[in-house]
Order: sequence, then C-alpha cells, then structure tokens
Amino acid sequence: MGTPSAGINFKDLSDTSYVQIPTNPLDRVIGQEDAVRMAKIAAMQRRHLLLVGPPGVGKSMIAQAMSFYLERPKQEVRVVHNPQYPERPFVEIKSLSEINREKEEMSSVEGEIYDPRDVPPTIAERLGYRCGKCGFYSLPAEATCPNCNNPKVQNVQQGPFGDVFNVIGAAFGVQNSTERVTSTRRIGEREEVIIYERYGDRIRALDEKTLERRRKIEKKSPSKVIVPVSRTPFILATGASETELLGDVRHDPYGGHPQLGTMPYERVIAGSVHEAHEGVLFVDEITHLGNLQRSILTAMQERSFPITGRNPQSAGASVRVDGVPADFILVAACNIQDLQYILSPLRSRIVGGGYELLMHTTMPDNPENRLRYLQFIAQEIIVDGKIPHMTMEAAEMVIEEGKRRGKEIDKKENALTLRLRELGGLIRAAGDLAVMEESRLIEKGNVAEALKTYLPVEEKIKKYYGNLANAMSTETTISQKSEEYLMKYHNYLEDRSYD
Ligand SMILES: Nc1ncnc2c1ncn2[C@@H]1O[C@H](COP(=O)(O)OP(=O)(O)O)[C@@H](O)[C@H]1O
Ligand SMILES: [Mg+2]
Repeated sequence: MGTPSAGINFKDLSDTSYVQIPTNPLDRVIGQEDAVRMAKIAAMQRRHLLLVGPPGVGKSMIAQAMSFYLERPKQEVRVVHNPQYPERPFVEIKSLSEINREKEEMSSVEGEIYDPRDVPPTIAERLGYRCGKCGFYSLPAEATCPNCNNPKVQNVQQGPFGDVFNVIGAAFGVQNSTERVTSTRRIGEREEVIIYERYGDRIRALDEKTLERRRKIEKKSPSKVIVPVSRTPFILATGASETELLGDVRHDPYGGHPQLGTMPYERVIAGSVHEAHEGVLFVDEITHLGNLQRSILTAMQERSFPITGRNPQSAGASVRVDGVPADFILVAACNIQDLQYILSPLRSRIVGGGYELLMHTTMPDNPENRLRYLQFIAQEIIVDGKIPHMTMEAAEMVIEEGKRRGKEIDKKENALTLRLRELGGLIRAAGDLAVMEESRLIEKGNVAEALKTYLPVEEKIKKYYGNLANAMSTETTISQKSEEYLMKYHNYLEDRSYD
C-alpha cells in the first residue's frame, strides 16, 4: 500500500488521467487504513468482520475487495436422491480432484470423434453425410446433395443391437434413432459392435467398452449440484429474503409423483449461506435481517444449515436436506445507530472469532491525503466510464468541497470528509455537464455549476421554504388534508360495495 501516486507532485499533472490507480481493490479504498489492514487479515486468516460507520465511507468497498485475498472454493455441494425416502435427499461434498476425475470419466464415454470421410463410406451415407450417387460429402441437414442435386439416400435400417441402443439412447435423452447406425468392426480375432452417431459436422463412434461405461454412470444415483465449485467466493446478502438467505425447496404441482412430478432432490435450491461456503457472506445493514440474524448465528455455529421448503403451503415443505455445508466468514456492515439492534450472541460470535471496526469519517487535510483524494477522483471517473477526466484546478475544487463538508458535516477543522459516495455524485454531476458541453475535460466551471445543483435536497428546501421547520409544517398540513380526502373517498367506495 503506502502512499498512492507516491512521488507525484500536484503541479506535475495536467489532469486526472495521469493519476495511477492501484490494481489491488483494497488499495483503492482511501483514508481507512486500519479497516483495510484488518480486512486483509480477516480474509487471509478467515476471521469474521463487523464494519461500523455511516453510509458511503467504503464499508461495501472493503468487504468486496476482500475476495481478492480469498482462496478459490475447493468443494462442490450436491444433493443426492434418497431411494428409500425421496423427501430426505442426502448431501454429497465433492473435492476438486473428485470432480476432475468425474469429468475425465465422462469424456471417456463420449467416444471417438471422426471426420465423416474417415468412417466407412456406407456409414457416412446412412448418417446422411455422403451422397450415395456421387460420393460428395455434405451436412445431414441438406436433404439433397449440393453437388449432383440428387436426394441423399438415408437408410434407417437398424442392426441387431438397435433395441439395446434405444434403451441407452432414451436414457441419455436422445430421441431420433435415425441419427445413428449400428455396425460391427473386427478387432484382431473378435468382432465388436460399434455405434456411429451424428455429432454436428462430425461422427461419433461408441464401442462396446464406452457403451458399458455409459451404462454404469447411468446407474449411479442421480444428484443435483446446488453449490458449484466454480463460484465466486463473495456472496452479497443485502436485503435477502428468508428463502434467498437460507435456501428453499421449490413447489411441485405433482407433489413429486414418480412419473409426473420432479423428484424432491431436483427442487432443492441453495441459499446465500450455502453459496458462501468457503468464502465470504457479506450482509450489509445486518440489523435489517431482524430475526434472520438467528439463523446466521446457527449456521456459523454449526458450519452448516439444513435446506427445507419454506412455504408451508407448498409440496416442498415436506422436503428437508440436513447438514448442507455453510462454512463462511461473515462480513457484516451497519451504521452506528443500528449497532444496538445486532443480535448480541451474534456480535459476541464476531468478536470471539474476528474483529469489529469503526470506520473513519474524515482524514487530516495534508498533501499526502490530497493525493489520495486525487486518486479517488480518478477512480470515480474511470469506474463511471461515461465522463471525461478532470483538470487539476477542477480537482482542487472537489477537494475544497471535501474540506468544506469535513467542517460542516463531520465538524472537523482542517479535515477532508470520507463520506465519499456523495462526493462521487458531485464528480459525476460535473462530468455530465462537461459531456453536455462536449468538453474534453471536466473544468472548474463544471464543478462550480454542479455544486449549485448538487446541493443536498435539505439545503434546497432551506433555500426554497426559508427553513426546514417551515417546509415541514406547510407540507404536513397539505398531506393531512389530502389524506382526509382519501379516507372519505375510500369509505365512500367501501359503503358502495355493500349495496
Ligand atoms: N474510502 C473510500 N475510498 C474510495 N472510494 C470510496 C470510499 N468510500 C466510498 N467510496 C466511494 O463511494 C462508493 C460507495 O461506498 P460504499 O463502500 O458502498 O459505502 P458504504 O458501504 O460504507 O455505504 C464506492 O463505490 C466508492 O465509489
Ligand atoms: Mg454499503
């Protein structure tokens, strides 16, 4: 980390396009050095984290950037059909090496792929690749030969193993049996059955061994991947509903009927706590979860959480999968006022296995921190992608506004505010004005104009109504009046409904 844009002097730069942006997302967070350091430790040591502070100071930014230090997931979670009791599917955890072995196994049952010219001509003809009249090769989709214009003869005759193959074919969801032919080939002393099938512009050949292996894989108990190994290790659970957070079992109108319905295991859906397994579960504004905090605590204690159908009216309600892994690190954010509403055993769990951090709201106004601000401005412009860079004079104006807010809002002298989301809004507003003027850079004038329109609406209200209290009383009476009116109207409608 250290000083961003170290060694660069303000006066050396003509505009913000020359400012270096760190590649590490944690280093893009300015003015929160302690929190950033602890977040890095939490990610690498797998500790929980609670970020406390007002909106727009970088809590989400830090949480998200932690994924930079997280290891890739190594496990895949599946639910497996339980033949004795379908409504209690099993959980299966597969390691990366097991998954790779399975993949190899599957590719070995794909058979061999041939160019149509490399299989016996009669086979190519029967599959529709070769013209029986002139020997020209074309795709089976073309019914007539593009060379001689004769219809391509398609022989749908089946070999002695046709029926056996149809069973396997049906199991693999292959319907059209005219797309394959059965033949034999000599291997040394022995004659073996071989099946050729269409495979795009190529032909796939399945020998006896491949067919045998296909049959074996088919026999293995059916399962569904609910948490894939190729997932992001960072899961955002903001405003999550119960089902989103804890998983669900979908409804089946046929109630899991063996022929008509979908099997219970196929209807199981993982929640955020499961998707965050081996990674980070980020819960922004954690107190908004209310009672669901309890479930998060349970998941943290057990490192797993059962999945059940959460709608009591649904056929999914009778399905339950126990022991679904949910070994995540919790990163929670909340503002200072809400701190008291965090479930206290959850908080002590975080403290016991992690860190609570208070975010800064300002940083001292000094040359080093002004450079950090410059980095922030350049980042905002680049991330936005729709506005041009900014001249140094304009950037200094933004910094001055940061200082003004440090004093007005944060009540700190000689400090720069770190409530940067709002300042980002100012930069974008100035940028939009520059775009409208077709200016190559955001100029001082654009920032000045944006500052006028970008006033917080409370300040606009003060200008318009004189003061806030004034506005409140005027508007409350008006809205009360209209509410009264609505009530009367509503009653009128209700009365009408009885006649
Ligand atoms: N400390 C910071 N350094 C750089 N940019 C920041 C910082 N804090 C906020 N921002 C800017 O404001 C936006 C919103 O910040 P965010 O992390 O969502 O705030 P919070 O989660 O604390 O409400 C970020 O995407 C970023 O553009
Ligand atoms: Mg946030």
